[in-house]
Amino acid sequence: MKTQILLIAMISLSFQALTATKKCDCTEIVQSADCKGGCTWSSADSSCAAKTVDCATLTSQPTCDSESTCAWSDTTSKCAAFTACADYTVTTAEHCYYKNDTCIPGTAGADGKTPCKTGSVTCSSFTNASDCNGKSPSDTTMCWFKAGACTQFDISKCSAITDQDICSLFCKWNSTGTGSCAALTCGDRTTAETCKTVSSDDSSSVNICTFNTSTTKCEDAVDVSALTSSNCFDQTSGYYYWDGSVCSECSGSSSNGYILAFIGFIGMVMF
Ligand SMILES: *[C@@H]1O[C@H](CO)[C@@H](O)[C@H](O)[C@H]1NC(C)=O
Ligand SMILES: *[C@@H]1O[C@H](CO)[C@@H](O)[C@H](O)[C@H]1NC(C)=O
Ligand SMILES: *[C@@H]1O[C@H](CO)[C@@H](O)[C@H](O)[C@H]1NC(C)=O
Ligand SMILES: *[C@@H]1O[C@H](CO)[C@@H](O)[C@H](O)[C@H]1NC(C)=O
Repeated sequence: MKTQILLIAMISLSFQALTATKKCDCTEIVQSADCKGGCTWSSADSSCAAKTVDCATLTSQPTCDSESTCAWSDTTSKCAAFTACADYTVTTAEHCYYKNDTCIPGTAGADGKTPCKTGSVTCSSFTNASDCNGKSPSDTTMCWFKAGACTQFDISKCSAITDQDICSLFCKWNSTGTGSCAALTCGDRTTAETCKTVSSDDSSSVNICTFNTSTTKCEDAVDVSALTSSNCFDQTSGYYYWDGSVCSECSGSSSNGYILAFIGFIGMVMF
């Protein structure tokens, strides 16, 4: 029994890296400075809640379609909550993909307009990089233009990625031998500003990092005791929040994997 406890204590000492699996839900955040991103602060009752979007206030196709719950109608030139793919007929076929993840273009009519329909993305249907890159046939796959063709890649985890360009967006390419892709480690973060967190291989958790000012190296954090009300949330990428007295682990929603990060990244590049 005693040796077992000693063994467990030794094992836990050798795995000092601090991991977290959940970002905060808006409602568990207690100070306004941490209430950001998809959350909004109400000063009336000092509470944080998920942002709600009023589609009707969005007056252009790009701002409307970039909100996941809203969709622009070319027919009425108005923004409203997304209804069904078949309710949209667009002047640019590509815009069908913007209405909802479940929509694809149908066959263009004699007037040149394209009715949208429900369906799934097929990478091989795209003939150039701008239409191809970043489209996602499923939660774990992405299309990428490579050697003249739009190809489907598995991006469920860093170690499954076979393409150096895709790997290098969020993971780390190891060029030894035929090459392989792996998750970043805290040590790969080279500045104090970027030394916050790194995602695990399948992006289901993060390691919390800390910047060692004497060695100027980014290392695995052992705990968050040095974090304060002003840096707890940001230094942990929103996996911890300031609860009024200590930096406390979030119990909210779990991380959504690399696909959202990739899509977010592609979105930033496109718009
Ligand atoms: C819109 O897409 C989401 C997935 O992103 C899906 O869960 C939802 O059912 C779709 N809405 C409709 C009405 O098809
Ligand atoms: C990509 O291909 C589509 C379909 O052939 C075409 O409509 C579009 O103009 C092309 N885009 C670029 C940037 O070449
Ligand atoms: C790179 O890959 C090689 C061969 O698979 C492996 O031996 C090596 O440890 C890897 N390097 C790093 C830094 O992970
Ligand atoms: C910084 O790194 C040095 C050398 O590895 C170590 O002795 C020291 O404890 C580290 N400082 C902190 C604050 O972790």
